[in-house]
Amino acid sequence: MNDSLSGLKFFVRTFGCQMNENDSEHIAGVLAGAGAGRADGPEDADIVVVNTCAVREKSEEKLYSYLGRLSGLKRKRHFLLGVAGCVAQVRKAELLKKRPFVDFVVGPDNYLDLPAMVRNAAEAPAVLTDWGRDWREVGPEATVRENGWSAFVPVMEGCDNFCAYCIVPFSRGREKFRPLPNILEEVRRAAGEGALEIQLLGQNVNSYKDPESGLGFAGLLDLVCAVPGAAWVRFITSHPKNFGDGIIEAMARNPKVCRSLHLPLQSGSSRVLERMNRGYNREDYLALAGRIKAGLPGILLSTDVIVGFPGETEEDFEATCGLLREVRFANIFSFRYSPRPLTEAARIPDDVPLEVKRRRLIALQQLQRTIQIELNESFVGRDVRVLCTGPSVKGGGRYAGRTEGNQVANFDAASDPTGQFVTVRVKGAGPYSLHGEIA
Ligand code: SAH
Ligand code: SF4
Ligand code: F3S
Repeated sequence: MNDSLSGLKFFVRTFGCQMNENDSEHIAGVLAGAGAGRADGPEDADIVVVNTCAVREKSEEKLYSYLGRLSGLKRKRHFLLGVAGCVAQVRKAELLKKRPFVDFVVGPDNYLDLPAMVRNAAEAPAVLTDWGRDWREVGPEATVRENGWSAFVPVMEGCDNFCAYCIVPFSRGREKFRPLPNILEEVRRAAGEGALEIQLLGQNVNSYKDPESGLGFAGLLDLVCAVPGAAWVRFITSHPKNFGDGIIEAMARNPKVCRSLHLPLQSGSSRVLERMNRGYNREDYLALAGRIKAGLPGILLSTDVIVGFPGETEEDFEATCGLLREVRFANIFSFRYSPRPLTEAARIPDDVPLEVKRRRLIALQQLQRTIQIELNESFVGRDVRVLCTGPSVKGGGRYAGRTEGNQVANFDAASDPTGQFVTVRVKGAGPYSLHGEIA
């Protein structure tokens, strides 16, 4: 075959979110489908693909420092170097100009074309960052999963929300929904192959609408949960403005849907939320969190927060802290605002000084730490179901996993339970994890 890459070895390095992790499984699947084999690292690869994230300045800097390392490696031996993902889509040919040792640039909608691109890139540098207006199905047959127990299943891609700070609508394009039969086929296949957890993916999953039938996200949850096997179903990311009561009801009637929800807040100040173009205010968020907790007893919430958005005052920041105290999230991802190209906020002065952003971030994380200690300690003495993800980073016969509420749990086990459910008796807790032993 023309596209044959047989005899070549590839290595994929991933930065960014779960969508990128799943895309890397597609990249690996497409390259393997063309006959290439996996390399252990860039040192023994003929093709290196770096799958990139553009969401913050820091994400992009990480890419450039990694590329620097690879260019050093390239001086010693030849391989083809490709940049994929969100930075590729946003920076396009500029990447080749600024980093001439890069051989090809490929956007998130073009991974099916990788074998041909790799062959072309061997002759001359290549750039492919086209958008399809419709869903482009990569398919489970071209997916090489990182593990067998948890399966990512994309349901939509892109975003129409244009939050003032966010580059994602430019790196992932407008919303596109995956046809329902393709989703269900992938869920069935993953469950049939023994996946215990299904994670539905998209930048804004709550706005899902089957292109054929118009079925929405709540209906999708019902159908995914009706597939036999796979005990846990999760989804990410939700948007508070699209999180209708119908989704709470669908979660409530489907016990397979984990009692855990990532619901990005960004700020607890209505004034800042308005300037961010988030489409809800402080009161809306609090009311929604209240309805979710009432409808789904025991649910744990997590969130994203940005500190130092342009114009954020001390009072705005205090409003965010107050909301954290009230909602008591089990986990937060917090970031210092950084201006991103193409976004609306990049046109207004980045006027919160770096020192102030740093101080607010530390204060926020300290506050959250105390909340998490209290919340995790309330689990001591309980038996919790844990999906074991492998040996704990600390080693020594300890294993790690995640609870239904998405807390990290470390535990001792006599034999290796990786990829299985275990019941853990919680003996102690810290701000970022529970620990115990098999009950
Ligand atoms: N679709 C998701 C994920 C967006 S990116 C959502 O709507 O939440 C993940 C997080 O990165 C965002 O929730 C936000 O908190 C953060 N983020 C996005 N742009 C940023 C920027 N310019 N500066 C700092 N943090 C940013
Ligand atoms: Fe970015 Fe907002 Fe879309 Fe999330 S909802 S991806 S933060 S524009
Ligand atoms: Fe980053 Fe793109 Fe995901 S910008 S957060 S990798 S959608």
